Amino acid sequence: MEGQQADAVYRGSLSKLLDKIRNERGLDLAQYRERYVERRIASRLHLLDIHTYRQYAEYLDQNPQEYASLLNALTINVTQFFRDGTVFKLFREKIVPDIIKSKQARHQRMIRVWSAGCATGQEPYSLAMSFLSVMDSRSNDFLLSIQGTDIDSNVLTTARKAVYPIEQLEHIPRPDHKYVDVLGDTFRIRPEVTKLVRFQYLNLFEDKPIHIVDVIFCRNVFIYFTRTEQERILELFWASLSRGGYLVLGRSERLATSMIGRFELVDGRERVYRKPLGMP
Ligand SMILES: C[S@@+](CC[C@H](N)C(=O)[O-])C[C@H]1O[C@@H](n2cnc3c(N)ncnc32)[C@H](O)[C@@H]1O
Repeated sequence: MEGQQADAVYRGSLSKLLDKIRNERGLDLAQYRERYVERRIASRLHLLDIHTYRQYAEYLDQNPQEYASLLNALTINVTQFFRDGTVFKLFREKIVPDIIKSKQARHQRMIRVWSAGCATGQEPYSLAMSFLSVMDSRSNDFLLSIQGTDIDSNVLTTARKAVYPIEQLEHIPRPDHKYVDVLGDTFRIRPEVTKLVRFQYLNLFEDKPIHIVDVIFCRNVFIYFTRTEQERILELFWASLSRGGYLVLGRSERLATSMIGRFELVDGRERVYRKPLGMP
């Protein structure tokens, strides 16, 4: 009985800690396996010589930079080609065709995409491949520009090289393997893709945002920010998007409450939102 009670207290304080992380960072750890989250948090407690989840919650309040270490412990700061395949399926099947249609209706050729917090470049290259595969022979009808930005200049150096370990090829859908050249135990993204993508250092809090974009992918970046910071960035994104422009967040991220009325919901599960067409 005693053991069961202790277990219930322990579960209760773990779930309180997870609620706190969700409320303050918008990071929903419920999507990760519980054992995995427990083990990763335990590694932080061990390092900090903290013995309870409650103490750890207090420590997070006093040392907000601990959130970054927790994220690193969860190895959330990684990326992948076509990360979360279903969002890229939606991008290919709905978002790209819709953008093409509205550009044609407005007699516009320029399509601009911003991958904010692009890490080592897999996301913007996946976006470029998706566009190319949908546009196919119509590629020349449009001027496509994909901007990848990040605060970490090391990841940008890797992104510009466009060479990745061969194991990552399995994340790229088979038909898109035509966009890479295999070089033994690495592969290189082909020039018809890399010429569409530019990388730039950009701190979302300090630097001027990329303006008038049709799509913003900002996935798995908000997990680093407080709710207030997220709201600030969402305001910037809203201003940067063209009318009817799309915003795509990460699976575990949510739109800040104050912004819910400003964006239209396109797909709740995939966290896809849209700036209404009637907006300036
Ligand atoms: C987990 S990665 C996400 C990569 C990619 N978007 C994805 O979903 O796979 C988060 C990236 O956000 C970047 N980042 C964190 N804070 C930032 C800021 N203030 N401005 C710009 N980028 C930031 C990090 O350097 C990191 O490369």
